[in-house]
Amino acid sequence: MEGSELPRPYVVLSVAVSVDGYIDDMVPERLYLSNEADFDRVEVERTACDAILIGAETLRRDNPRLIIKSEERLAARKAAGKPAHLQKIVVTGSGNLDPAARFWHYGVEERRPLVYTTDTGAEKLHDRLGDLGIVVSLGETVDFGSLLDDLSNRDIGRLMIEGGTSIHTAVLEAGLADELHLAVAPLLIGQADAPRFVDPAAFPGGSRRRMHLVDVTQIGDVAVLRYLPKADSDSI
Ligand SMILES: NC(=O)c1ccc[n+]([C@@H]2O[C@H](COP(=O)([O-])OP(=O)(O)OC[C@H]3O[C@@H](n4cnc5c(N)ncnc54)[C@H](OP(=O)(O)O)[C@@H]3O)[C@@H](O)[C@H]2O)c1
Repeated sequence: MEGSELPRPYVVLSVAVSVDGYIDDMVPERLYLSNEADFDRVEVERTACDAILIGAETLRRDNPRLIIKSEERLAARKAAGKPAHLQKIVVTGSGNLDPAARFWHYGVEERRPLVYTTDTGAEKLHDRLGDLGIVVSLGETVDFGSLLDDLSNRDIGRLMIEGGTSIHTAVLEAGLADELHLAVAPLLIGQADAPRFVDPAAFPGGSRRRMHLVDVTQIGDVAVLRYLPKADSDSI
């Protein structure tokens, strides 16, 4: 895919983690790490974005709708001339996505979800999804820089990334996140095979580089930390 002349979207990576660094447990029922007030804070962040992206495993495991629930926020977006809901995006290599998942059926009246995949995945998805989504192949692999270039051509200025582990890891390793919002929930998961915030990777600057912390907010029993991952702690 060709590079874009337009600026890439501003990327906000938002995640809820346990105190011991996990983003889920091993129990099949969905684990909610945050509290209600923090979910509302996340919805405010979503409302300010144009698009929201998840990985295929999060879609398969959590079956999220990824909508804005508040009527007031939907109305405010419309009044500002924006689509009420965000452009939904999923990334898959396998193309193994269930057309019955809620992702395809809520908040999609104005725009169908985008699916970034490989040539192999695209072949499978055209049959499997029909008109439910817009399938975009990025070639043999999905490179996140190319994905952002493609989004800039689709009028996406601000992108919210909401997991899971493999997506966080790839985006941070490639140095593509402009903001990192970490909601730390007062839980200890303690299960070795549970998904962590990130997998081991060669992150920019290595293990001694400190990111710039711009804000810490307490929301009930959750601490929300905001970092600028592209900036060193002593550079601002
Ligand atoms: N606490 C939180 O804030 C939070 C938020 C979101 C998710 N989660 C949790 O995160 C867990 C899932 O994390 P995960 O790492 O297993 O899954 P994930 O990151 O959601 O999705 C992984 C899948 O995305 C696709 N993918 C990722 N990078 C790709 C690339 N470069 N090219 C092509 N496809 C790519 C692949 O799909 P295919 O397998 O289809 O090829 C891969 O298997 C779940 O337990 C979920 O509950 C937690």
